[in-house]
Amino acid sequence: MTTYAVTGASGPFGRHAIASLIESGVAAGDIVALVRTPSKVADLAEQGVEVRTADYSAPDTLAGALAGVDALLLVSGSEVGQRVAQHTNVIEAAKAAGVSRIVYTSVLRADTTELVLAPEHKATEEALRASGVAFTILRNGWYIENYLGQVEQYRATGEIVGASGDGRVSAATRADFAAAAAAALVQQGHENAVYELGGAPAFTMSDLAAALSSATGTTIVYRDVTPEENTAILESVGLDAGTAGFVTALEVATSRGDLFTESRDLQRLLGRESTPLVDAIAAAVK
Ligand SMILES: NC(=O)c1ccc[n+]([C@@H]2O[C@H](COP(=O)([O-])OP(=O)(O)OC[C@H]3O[C@@H](n4cnc5c(N)ncnc54)[C@H](OP(=O)(O)O)[C@@H]3O)[C@@H](O)[C@H]2O)c1
Repeated sequence: MTTYAVTGASGPFGRHAIASLIESGVAAGDIVALVRTPSKVADLAEQGVEVRTADYSAPDTLAGALAGVDALLLVSGSEVGQRVAQHTNVIEAAKAAGVSRIVYTSVLRADTTELVLAPEHKATEEALRASGVAFTILRNGWYIENYLGQVEQYRATGEIVGASGDGRVSAATRADFAAAAAAALVQQGHENAVYELGGAPAFTMSDLAAALSSATGTTIVYRDVTPEENTAILESVGLDAGTAGFVTALEVATSRGDLFTESRDLQRLLGRESTPLVDAIAAAVK
């Protein structure tokens, strides 16, 4: 019997990963959900998943939480700026607990990209390699869901405004990335592998606008602006300077292709095509 643990199990990614593990035939009783707040995952406990308390920032919670775990899915945390120390805590605790492999959700080309979010992932990858524990690094592209939260605003204004130019994005649904993570956790043969995961077909922001127009019946166009204009527009609608600059940096990264990959690693892990943008939009816009 192999015991699988998933961190961030109260978040959407962790939840999808646990659902995928169960769908693939892993018994709920062989899965440990690691969370800060067990009450958030009472539904998982009802399904027979073992829920344990684990806070990335509190090493004393991690030792017990990882006892008896064979393979760990370390879902990257959400507290930007604290994640290297937090992830390192988990890696060290996993090593001490005798975990045999850690699967980590990183970001596309973490070691070479200029993407503003990458340094914490790069440092975590380095901590993993240094630990001596077998690892599988899943360098995830963008979630399609990142683009679907503002659909009502796009419909109201008839436009998507950004500084992404013609940059293509190999986004995939969060559920697909999580299903790939579950597969990488359960299957053998992924020891010390690094995968670049992206959805296909890739799309530009103009493609996104066209797909949203088609799905909603409202004409939506993509209007490209300069990075400076983009930041000014974001500040004019209330974003603070730091957040506006951060969002614009992601737009510029998109324009230079940082969110694009030709890799088929996601599809190989899934054993099928990834969910196309149009299907994800159809499911979200009803
Ligand atoms: N590729 C992309 O487009 C993209 C987009 C957004 C995020 N991400 C990354 O992917 C990860 C998973 O995505 P998601 O949508 O599930 O993110 P999310 O909704 O932000 O969930 C983050 C999860 O991490 C847990 N967490 C945060 N800090 C923790 C700590 N100190 N100790 C223990 N658990 C902690 C949260 O627990 P609580 O419920 O207790 O807060 C939650 O379960 C994110 O954390 C982020 O690193 C990627």
